Amino acid sequence: MALVGPPPLLGTNPLAALLGDLREERSATVPFPPGETNFSLARTKRFADDPLPLLLEAHERFGPIFTLRLFHGNVVFMLGPEANHYITVSHAANFTWRESHFRDLIGLMGDGLLTIDGDFHRRSRLIMLPSFHHDQIAASVDVMAEETTLALEELAPGERFDLYTWTRRLALRIAMRALFGLDPDGATARFLDAAGLFEQALSFYASDYALRMLRGPFTPWARMQKAARSLDRLIYAEISSRRDSGERGEDILSLLLDAHDEDGATLTDLQIRDEVMTLMFAGHDTTTSTVAFMFYELAHHPEIVARLHAEQDAQLADGPQGGRPTPAQLMSGELAELEMVFDETLRKYPPAWIGPRRSVQPFEFAGHTVPARAFVNYSSWASHHLPDVFGEPDEFRPERFTPAAKGALPKGAYVPFGGGSRTCIGMRFGQLEIRMIATLLLSRFTLALPDDFQLEIRQMPTISPKDGLPMIVRQRPPRDVAQCRLANMLSL
Ligand code: HEM
Repeated sequence: MALVGPPPLLGTNPLAALLGDLREERSATVPFPPGETNFSLARTKRFADDPLPLLLEAHERFGPIFTLRLFHGNVVFMLGPEANHYITVSHAANFTWRESHFRDLIGLMGDGLLTIDGDFHRRSRLIMLPSFHHDQIAASVDVMAEETTLALEELAPGERFDLYTWTRRLALRIAMRALFGLDPDGATARFLDAAGLFEQALSFYASDYALRMLRGPFTPWARMQKAARSLDRLIYAEISSRRDSGERGEDILSLLLDAHDEDGATLTDLQIRDEVMTLMFAGHDTTTSTVAFMFYELAHHPEIVARLHAEQDAQLADGPQGGRPTPAQLMSGELAELEMVFDETLRKYPPAWIGPRRSVQPFEFAGHTVPARAFVNYSSWASHHLPDVFGEPDEFRPERFTPAAKGALPKGAYVPFGGGSRTCIGMRFGQLEIRMIATLLLSRFTLALPDDFQLEIRQMPTISPKDGLPMIVRQRPPRDVAQCRLANMLSL
C-alpha cells in the first residue's frame, strides 16, 4: 500500500501565483502586523542583497512580529525564541510549507519532506526516520573518512585553494556514496554528469528573483527542468535496477526502497525520487557552507585553533596521518572544543536561515493579528543575532555553548536545525560529516585567509560565501608528543 500525496499546486505560472497572492492579501479579514507596508523596490533589493540588517532594524522598531512589503506583497516576519517556538512547535499545524515563498522548490524536489505538510508529511517522515537512526548514520562514517582523506591529498602547504568549492565537491561525493550508494569513480562519466546536472539545477535558485519568474524556452526555469529530468532518468534507473535485482546496500536509497510504516504503507518510485532529490538539495549546501564559515572564523581566531589542536593532541589516537577520530568520538560530539566551535558557527551563520511558511487560519501573536493565507517566516539567522539573547552577536565566541550555557538558553533561542515535527531529518548525518571534515582538516593543516579577502554572503537558497572562500594552506604545528602518547595509552 502506497501513501497518497497532495494534489499539485495550481499551475507553475508565477504570474498567476502572483495575482493569486494579491487577491488573497486583499481579502484578509484581520489587519497585518505593523511594519513597512508601502511598495518599495529599494527595500526589496536590500532584502535580496543583505537581509540581516533589514530584519534586525525592523525588529528594533516594531518588535518580534512585523510586516515588510517585499516586491508585490506583504510578508510577515516573526523573530526571537517565542516566535520560533510558536511557528515550529506550539502552533506548527497552523502553517504550511508547500504554499510558502519557497514553493518554486517543488519544480525540482517534487513532493519530498521539505515541501509537504499535514498527514502526508507526518506519515512520510515516519517511514523515513528509521533510515536516519544512529546505527544507519554510523554506517556512513567510513565513506566520510575515505572521501575526506582522499580530498586532503589534493592540498599541500603553501598552496591556495577555494575551501567552499573543495568542500562542495567533497560533500557531493559523500552524498553520492552514503545517501545513494553510487560509486563516484565507477561510472565516472555518469557521476560527473550527475554532479554537473545537480549543480545546474541548483543554480536556478541562486539566480535573480525576476529571472526566476520567467518561463518558456531558454529561461533559467527551462534549464533547471531539463537538468531535473536528466537526473530523474538516473534516479529511476537506479531504483528499478535495485528493485529488479533485489540488491541493497547500506545507503539511504536502499533503505527507502523497503521502508514502511506500522500500517505497511511504503513509498512509490515517484515518492522515493522526490525524497532523493530533497535530501540532495537540503543536505548539500548546508554542510558545505558550515565548513566554510567555520574555517573563515578560525582563520581570525588562532587562539581557538590552538585550543582545538590541544584537544586533538589530548584525545585523538596517533597515526600515520596524525590524529584520527573514532566513529564513537564523532557520533557523540565528545570533542568538546570542536563542538562549541560548531555550535557557534551555526549560531552566527545558520545556512538554512529562513523558515518559510504560510498561515492557514488567522492568528494572534505578541498582541498583533495575522490574516489567514499570509506569508509568514521565522529566521534563525536574525533570531541568533538578537543582542538580548546572544550578547554582542557579531562576535564569534564558542564559549557561549559550554554545556551549561547551552542548557540555559531559552526555548526556541537556538534553531539552526529548525524545530518540532519539521526538525532537520539529516541533522545527525550533517553533524557527523562536518565533524569528520573539520577534524581531519585540522589534524593536518592550518588555513589562513588572503590579506585582501572580504567576506560577502549570498543568501539564496542558503547562506554561503558569495564568491567562494580562498584559503592558504599551512602545515599545522607539530603534535604534542606527550599528549599523543597519553591519548594512545588511554585508547588501548
Ligand atoms: C549543517 C547542516 C544542516 C543544517 C544547518 C540544516 C538545517 C535545516 C533546517 C533549519 C530545517 C528546517 C527548515 C524549516 O523549518 O523550514 C531542515 C530540514 C530538513 N533538512 Fe536539514 N540541515 C542540514 C543538513 C541536512 C542534511 C545533511 C540532510 C540530508 C541528508 C538534510 C535534510 C533535511 C530535510 C529532508 C529537511 C525537511 C524535514 C521535514 O520537513 O520533515 N539536512 N534542515
